[in-house]
Amino acid sequence: MNYKNSDIAQAAKLLKQKLDKLPIAQKPTILRSKELKSLFEKVKLLPPAERPAFGAEVNKLRQHLETLVNGVKQATERLEPIDLTAPFDINVEPNKRPAVLSADDGSIHPLMIELDLILDNLYRMGFNAVESRQIDDDYHMFGSLNFPEDHPARDDYDTFMTSEGLIAPAHTSTMQNRVLKLYKSNLSHGQPIAVAIPGRVFRNEDVDVRHEHTFYQLEGVYVDKGVTVGHLIATLKSFLQEYYGKDLEVKIQPFYFPFTEPSFEFTLSCPFCDKAGCAICSYSGWIELLGCGLIHPNVLKEAGIDPKIYSGFAWGGGIDRLVMMKYDIEDIRHFEAGRLSFLRQF
Ligand code: DAH
Repeated sequence: MNYKNSDIAQAAKLLKQKLDKLPIAQKPTILRSKELKSLFEKVKLLPPAERPAFGAEVNKLRQHLETLVNGVKQATERLEPIDLTAPFDINVEPNKRPAVLSADDGSIHPLMIELDLILDNLYRMGFNAVESRQIDDDYHMFGSLNFPEDHPARDDYDTFMTSEGLIAPAHTSTMQNRVLKLYKSNLSHGQPIAVAIPGRVFRNEDVDVRHEHTFYQLEGVYVDKGVTVGHLIATLKSFLQEYYGKDLEVKIQPFYFPFTEPSFEFTLSCPFCDKAGCAICSYSGWIELLGCGLIHPNVLKEAGIDPKIYSGFAWGGGIDRLVMMKYDIEDIRHFEAGRLSFLRQF
């Protein structure tokens, strides 16, 4: 594009060089650049006779820049989709790309190997499995679990929320209302509700060897006539004894969860040192493992189950924690780090 006026020709050259250097997303800013603005301002300062010719050329330059910017926009809109998971830059020639691992070299993630064992163990005790979800809402996260609006107990479950108000669940208890409703017809047929719920959960954590923002929990829900804390303790004790392959002592101590009454923290004798004290149990001989209790009457009612006729127990705890203890894994971050040297040991 040629310009008769030398100022405009010079500005055009400069602006085109600038446009070339701008990243794609910022190219439209050239139309608001100070160089272009000052050319428009200059029009007003010129003697009236010179204004039309100068003004026409500045407009021509602006239109030209606009065409260039729109051209880039259209070109990017036409770009072929790229495979973000490809382990090489898309411009690398095929014969120079790194060899992709064959699927035969893969292995099942240690947490999933252990989860299979855990679910098999619980299945033989009469529990079927329902997977939890990775996106949920306020009602299932709090309301259906007897957390009053604005109750401080909600603060213990600080997690991530989308701008639409959807929640990355902070615990698998979000599934309680769903499984209670799904299986409540069992009760009228004289059968209990017995469900194990594994799932991925998310918390706004300061990440360290014991805390991850993403981890796995296992929830258990059992409802029938005449269910007591004794059933809860016996179920968890036999489950954990089978998982660790040895006799264990257990203790419960009072705790608070809005969705259970009474609520407990479940503690077991350290499977490594048999209460002698070791690094795994912080030399206390005991390990606080999970939360549990008798399902709060309001939670049963909310699912349409009459708490005067039926009662139940529930528990929830980290699967990562169970597995870390079983194999003496010192850092929870190994599970999500994707390091083959760790994963291949299983
Ligand atoms: N959801 C609780 C947590 O993540 C754990 C829990 C406690 C689950 C008691 C239960 C329960 O089902 O009854 O901290």
